[in-house]
Amino acid sequence: MAWPRVPCLLLILLLLLHTCLPQPGPPSPPSAPQCHIPYTEERQEDIHCFWEPGQDPQIPTSYSLHWNSTEGISSAVEGTNVSGVIPRKLYTSYSDLTVLVRAANQHGSAMSTVAAFNTGDIKKPPTPEVTHHSHQPLEIYWTLQCDDQGSSDQLCEVQYHTQDQQDWTQEKDILRSFLLLTPRPYTVYEFQVRCACEGPQALMSDWSSVYTAKSSESAPVKALDVWSDCGVISELSQCALMWKEMPTWLAHGKVLGYVVTLSHSNGTVEVVDMSTSEPGGLCVCQEKRCRFTPSLRGVSGVDVSVYNSQGATKPAPLALPTSDLQVPELSFTVNLKIFSLNVSWSLPPQPIENMDEYVVQYKQVGLPPTQGFDWIKVHKNDTSIILRGDFENHTAYNVSLFAVFINRSCLLASAISYSLHGLPPKVTEFKVQHISDSNVTLSWQHTSLTQSKGLILCYQLVLNNFTVYNVSGDQNYLHLLGLTSGHHQVWIRAETKAGLGPSETINFSTENGHGYTKYLVAGIIVGMLLLIIIIIIISIQMKTCAKVPDPSNSKLLQQIKLQLNSSLMAICSPLESNPKISELEVVENPFWDAKASPDGQTEGMVGEERTHKRTDDEAEKEEDADEGYSKIIDTDEEERDGGESESLLEDDHLGYEKHFMPVDV
Ligand SMILES: *[C@@H]1O[C@H](CO)[C@@H](O)[C@H](O)[C@H]1NC(C)=O
Ligand SMILES: *[C@@H]1O[C@H](CO)[C@@H](O)[C@H](O)[C@H]1NC(C)=O
Ligand SMILES: *[C@@H]1O[C@H](CO)[C@@H](O)[C@H](O)[C@H]1NC(C)=O
Ligand SMILES: *[C@@H]1O[C@H](CO)[C@@H](O)[C@H](O)[C@H]1NC(C)=O
Ligand SMILES: *[C@@H]1O[C@H](CO)[C@@H](O)[C@H](O)[C@H]1NC(C)=O
Ligand SMILES: *[C@@H]1O[C@H](CO)[C@@H](O)[C@H](O)[C@H]1NC(C)=O
Ligand SMILES: *[C@@H]1O[C@H](CO)[C@@H](O)[C@H](O)[C@H]1NC(C)=O
Ligand SMILES: *[C@@H]1O[C@H](CO)[C@@H](O)[C@H](O)[C@H]1NC(C)=O
Ligand SMILES: *[C@@H]1O[C@H](CO)[C@@H](O)[C@H](O)[C@H]1NC(C)=O
Ligand SMILES: *[C@@H]1O[C@H](CO)[C@@H](O)[C@H](O)[C@H]1NC(C)=O
Ligand SMILES: *[C@@H]1O[C@H](CO)[C@@H](O)[C@H](O)[C@H]1NC(C)=O
Ligand SMILES: *[C@@H]1O[C@H](CO)[C@@H](O)[C@H](O)[C@H]1NC(C)=O
Repeated sequence: MAWPRVPCLLLILLLLLHTCLPQPGPPSPPSAPQCHIPYTEERQEDIHCFWEPGQDPQIPTSYSLHWNSTEGISSAVEGTNVSGVIPRKLYTSYSDLTVLVRAANQHGSAMSTVAAFNTGDIKKPPTPEVTHHSHQPLEIYWTLQCDDQGSSDQLCEVQYHTQDQQDWTQEKDILRSFLLLTPRPYTVYEFQVRCACEGPQALMSDWSSVYTAKSSESAPVKALDVWSDCGVISELSQCALMWKEMPTWLAHGKVLGYVVTLSHSNGTVEVVDMSTSEPGGLCVCQEKRCRFTPSLRGVSGVDVSVYNSQGATKPAPLALPTSDLQVPELSFTVNLKIFSLNVSWSLPPQPIENMDEYVVQYKQVGLPPTQGFDWIKVHKNDTSIILRGDFENHTAYNVSLFAVFINRSCLLASAISYSLHGLPPKVTEFKVQHISDSNVTLSWQHTSLTQSKGLILCYQLVLNNFTVYNVSGDQNYLHLLGLTSGHHQVWIRAETKAGLGPSETINFSTENGHGYTKYLVAGIIVGMLLLIIIIIIISIQMKTCAKVPDPSNSKLLQQIKLQLNSSLMAICSPLESNPKISELEVVENPFWDAKASPDGQTEGMVGEERTHKRTDDEAEKEEDADEGYSKIIDTDEEERDGGESESLLEDDHLGYEKHFMPVDV
């Protein structure tokens, strides 16, 4: 029951496919044939006919050419899809023919429309040949062999263009030569000619082969593009004169040389003629830029002109750098890529008076004058320009914008830019500039633009592997205030867009009240001497007087005891660490231990270090005091310290007390 349905569905599908797919059918009709008798020396005179085959038939299609003549001859030949040939023997000269093309395939056939002509009218004339030209004016001449000797009816067409143009310019109805009016000077032109021999309906010959002719020179007109590389300081005496070579089509001829005119402020005018034919001349031209480096000291005006065999341009003035003009501040943006430089700026709030144009220049930083340098003039209405170039990676370029006033120029803005930022080098000359107690000034050398592989965004300094300071890229020092006394380590790294460079480290120590300690030690020595003197005096008095004073009641003695205690502690005790109450200072110690640095005053201490500190302190308390560390006397802990060391003092003075002091009961 089910099986008859399947072929039914298949049938429907096939039917659908059949109606949807393109139907192969008879070919579309070709165009009417166009026929001529080509010019050949052999005078074969077969008729060649050409046509358009129409839509691509996709299936094999044959084409045939059919003709009837007025004499009643009917014939046909097989052709290709686009052409067919009527042999000379199948037609008569000077007879009228009707010709059509028939296309046929397995589904049917189609006919073109009919073309009718007289076989005497379809002879193609021979191709003309351009023989020579004259330079001034530029005129080309050709020869043509028409059948009828002395035919005065030949009419020709000429087409021409310059070598850098694609399209041809065509001129019709030319007789025997062609004069090119107002050609571009010193330019190579290409010409082709074709001709018809008899009357306006006659067939045109093929185009002649291309004939080239160069137009003659004329005096150059356009002024040179003159500018100068004045280095970083824009000082006139540092300026190197530069100009752009003119392309020959603009120079209207072969450039023979340049004339530079230097007007000195004392009135002298110096004219330097530099011929380009002299090798090793005064001016050097490379990569379409010429440079000449006369001394411009004391020069008030410079201009340059170019000349060829026909004349010179009008002198182009160099806009000398000047700084005595008031110019507005503009925002200035530079975007440097490997192959392009995009410079843009804001319109000045008010138009700059008398300004002619802008100049955008760039200079590869660190190169000698005129090298890695280029400029472009920009219309005063514009606010951006894109310069093509080949900019080196990791290299600084100084891009500047100038306003030009005929013969003066004025710097408006400049910026350093990199096409690609690299990692910065190690910071050099990193050193302690100044230490005063707990304040330290660190300094380093700015990374020079020639060494820096990218724009330095900031310097990163790390104190004791913990506290990070970011210093802006244009600063080269850092004040560290309120450091704890002791050993410190700081490292510095420069940062660019590409990241942080290698680090440079310094170690230094701070010693609170160092100078004061010296005085204190001296004071203590003096005090001790005084004490001895007093004691001697007292002992003499004791021997002479019955009444014996009790030295333990003497405030002076107590103070001296304390001081002595302190100074001893200062020499012997380990480092103490509650700096907010520090009064007494550190005694110099040549053998620093990095881990022995105190904490508290600087917030930048790691917990780890605190741990170290504590264990060190503990260890030191256990250790002998003469290990070599310094000691800060803690006034808050005076009593405790005093108490602790009481026995020491007592030991020292036990002999004295035993001898001279009555024991308190
Ligand atoms: C030639 O003459 C025949 C008969 O009159 C006609 O059918 C045919 O279309 C003609 N062919 C041409 C190319 O004129
Ligand atoms: C004519 O046929 C040739 C190959 O036989 C083909 O290359 C050419 O494209 C065809 N021309 C046209 C206009 O269809
Ligand atoms: C960049 O060039 C300008 C113009 O010559 C100059 O004034 C400026 O100092 C240069 N900048 C640097 C950083 O060299
Ligand atoms: C003017 O100055 C130039 C260069 O400074 C010097 O060569 C020239 O001799 C001076 N001329 C006079 C007349 O002083
Ligand atoms: C610069 O141009 C101004 C205005 O045209 C002119 O007065 C001045 O003499 C020129 N200076 C020089 C050195 O050519
Ligand atoms: C050039 O830079 C300006 C401003 O930064 C921007 O508006 C413009 O699109 C840039 N042009 C190109 C071609 O990148
Ligand atoms: C430049 O700007 C001025 C004033 O806005 C205008 O008159 C002039 O036509 C502009 N020139 C060009 C070339 O755009
Ligand atoms: C510059 O950098 C680009 C992108 O990283 C790279 O393709 C190119 O090779 C580099 N050129 C040189 C000369 O190193
Ligand atoms: C250290 O710097 C602080 C803050 O600037 C200042 O108050 C203090 O007097 C300085 N100390 C010394 C010894 O220069
Ligand atoms: C600095 O600290 C980091 C972790 O905070 C540690 O890995 C590194 O070893 C320390 N460097 C020094 C020199 O102490
Ligand atoms: C310092 O600069 C780095 C990178 O530029 C940044 O990640 C960090 O937060 C900055 N630190 C401070 C304290 O500004
Ligand atoms: C700084 O001190 C550390 C140890 O405290 C030492 O490893 C480093 O080499 C020292 N650096 C300099 C530059 O003296």
